[in-house]
This record gives sequence, structure tokens and C-alpha cells, in this order.
Amino acid sequence: MTETMDQKHSTWANRLRENQGIRSLMEDLGKQTGHPDEILLGGGNPAHIPEAEAIFQETFANLAKEPALRALLGDYQAPIGNDHFREIAAEYLSSHFGTSLRKENIAFFNGSQNAYSYLLNLHSGPMADGSFKKILLPIVPEYIGYADQTITEGVFVANTPMVKQTGKNRFQYELNKTSFDLTDIGVLAISRPTNPTGNVINLSDLEWMEERTKKQNIPILIDLAYGNPFPNLIGKEEPIHFENGRTLSLSFSKIGLPGVRLGIVISDEDTIETLSSFAAVGNLAVGNLGVYMMEQLFQKNLLTQLSENILRPFYEAKRNLALALFTDAFQKLGVEYEIHDPMGGFFLWIRFPSLSITNHQLYHLCKDKRLFIVSGHYFFPGLNTDFSHTKECIRLTYCRKEEELARGAQILAEIVASHQAKSE
Ligand SMILES: Cc1ncc(COP(=O)(O)O)c(C=O)c1O
Repeated sequence: MTETMDQKHSTWANRLRENQGIRSLMEDLGKQTGHPDEILLGGGNPAHIPEAEAIFQETFANLAKEPALRALLGDYQAPIGNDHFREIAAEYLSSHFGTSLRKENIAFFNGSQNAYSYLLNLHSGPMADGSFKKILLPIVPEYIGYADQTITEGVFVANTPMVKQTGKNRFQYELNKTSFDLTDIGVLAISRPTNPTGNVINLSDLEWMEERTKKQNIPILIDLAYGNPFPNLIGKEEPIHFENGRTLSLSFSKIGLPGVRLGIVISDEDTIETLSSFAAVGNLAVGNLGVYMMEQLFQKNLLTQLSENILRPFYEAKRNLALALFTDAFQKLGVEYEIHDPMGGFFLWIRFPSLSITNHQLYHLCKDKRLFIVSGHYFFPGLNTDFSHTKECIRLTYCRKEEELARGAQILAEIVASHQAKSE
């Protein structure tokens, strides 16, 4: 860090400047050169699926024709959305979350990332009662975008997860119940499915945690960006319902609308009220486009069918294709590898146990060949123990075309094969 930075910026600003995680990932996405050799397996963009795009384009075109367009372009929403839109969401989501929601349980944000920056600060750091609270990530690796969102430094807590071998070259992370400790914890955060691993935490583990958190009134944030009810990429696992003590978040991004920036939070009335204060200060108002599109999509009940008939089959086929391509390339070149069971979402999390360089160095070597992946070391915020996976794993998306995935598999396999420690 330069001296000028130290002097001119706040400590938070300097911490953000040092952070290379979410920023480098999103900058890689934005810096695509369009070079024909570029292989973009790094970012979290959803795939462009023509059937989904047709639904979104028609919705958009309808809005452009309506008298509502004047308000859409020319009026502010309330900070977390006008009551009319919150009522529509409450009614629609009640049937999907097995409960009766009211508008007071609903808040809209400019993307769910935006919601997390408030939720994580609401529940951590110096508290009004004089205590200091931290954020527990019950299973790491966990979503890169939570790290560094808090104004207070050092608030993330994580333990080494259990690693279960689930088959040849396959494993799964599981909750480590023996090290589960709620001392000084203000909130838990978990993405389901988990970005980056594709893990979908089972409901019995969630309930096991809630038996303990409820006794201490500690909320659990459950990030459903890839989960139910849309895009519902949860494989064979059970959907999540809303209950007291849970704050759920949804995103329009992974259904195919990342440019619209709509995130929805479902929580108790008090949390929603507080979020409204954060949103008024931080955003003034949620953007109009997302809530107007939501009104159409929810009222015509388009997202259930879209998820079941289009998104799930599409991503499951892509997952199977990517598994076949990468496995084949690794085996042909003698790469030692293990893949996390891809239960949901749209990423593969791959471990190279014999890698003689770090995953971050591997990322750079791949980038030199125009292959973009994400180094796994970013996904362990709060973990202070030595865990070899932090240096051995990478994440890649399988949202891309077959030809791109195949070239990516070949390049990755070649680089890893030439950087493996020789086994005795
Ligand atoms: C698990 C998870 N949560 C939240 C987000 C944020 O998404 P958005 O702000 O686009 O809703 C992402 C984006 O990649 C994600 O993967």
C-alpha cells in the first residue's frame, strides 16, 4: 500500500483497495476483449438461453408500451420498493415459501449483493449493547462477495469443514458440528446452493444449527441466488421455507437478468424496517426496472415454468457436459483431481491435490493462455487454520458453449499436468 493511500483514505477504503477477490473477478468479466481465443469460465454470468430471453424481452417490450413507462422512467420508488410491488411479492412468495407473508416482510434492492452489504453490517461489528458481534460462515468455501462488505474489519469466522469422499474423484464439504461455536456471533450466512462449490446444505443440518441459533436469537441469512423458487437449481434437495429467525434473499440475476439488478429480501418486520433505513441512505431508492418486470413475471406466474422446464434442464445438461469434458481431459493427461459434488448452481469446484504451485499462480498461468477461472483462495473468509484446499482449488462456470468448455478443459489439464508434484 502506498503512503498516499494510507493518508488520504479511510482504513475501510484501504482494505477495499487491497481486496482482489470480487473486484478482480468482476473486472475480468468486464474486460472481455472479444478475442476469439478467450475462454471465460471465471465469472458468475448466467447463460444466454433463448427461451428465457424471449420471456424477458416480451416482458420488457410490454413495459415499454404501457402508460406505466412514464412512472418507470420518471419516478422514484420508496427506498425498499413501493407498497404495491411489495404486496405483489408477498402474495406470490407466500405460496412458494410455505407461509403467509405480508408486504412488511419484503424489501427490494439493487441486486442481492446490495442487500448483503446492509444485512452483514446490520448484524456485525460494535453493537448497541456494547458487545462485538461476528459473522459465522458455517461451511467454507463460501460466496466471495460477502468478504469485505463489512465496515468493521475481522468480523468473519469460519472453521475447517468436514470433507467427505463421496466417490472416486468426488467429495463434498459438510458442516463441522464439533467446532460449531456461537460465542460472539451476531449472524450466520450460507448460500444454498453454495457459490462456489455447488453444495446444497441438507435441511437436517440447517435445522441442527437453528436449534442452537434460536436459543440465542441469532438470525440465519440464507442466500437463494441459485435456489428455490427461482432459478431453483437445487438438484434433488428439498426447497427452503420461510420461518422466524431466517432471512432469505432472492436474485433476478441467475434466472438471466443480471443487468436488471433486482434482489429481494424476505425477513421479519423489524429487519425489513431497518433495511429500509439503510437503503434510504445508501441507495435513496431501489431501481424501477426490476420491480416492474417482477410485477409482470409474478402476476403471470412465468418463473415457475421457466425454472422447471427451461433453466433446470439446461443447467443440468451443461453440468453433465462439463463433467465429461473436464474428467476426460484430466484423465488423458494424468491430472490428479477431485470435483465437489455439483448438486446445484452452475459452478464446478475442482481440487488438484498434487498441485506444486498455488491456485493463484495457476489462475495467472491460465490467464496467460486467455483462460479465465477463479482461484479458490478467495472463498475462505474468516478461516484462520491451515487447510490445504485453500491453495489447491479453483472454481469455474459451466455456463459457456461446449467448444469453449472443451478448449478450457484442455488448457487447464495441460497446465496442471506440468505443475504436479511427482508422487513417490
Ligand atoms: C451466492 C450469491 N449471492 C449473491 C450474489 C449477488 O448477486 P446479485 O447482486 O446479482 O443479485 C451472487 C452473484 O454472483 C451469488 O453468487
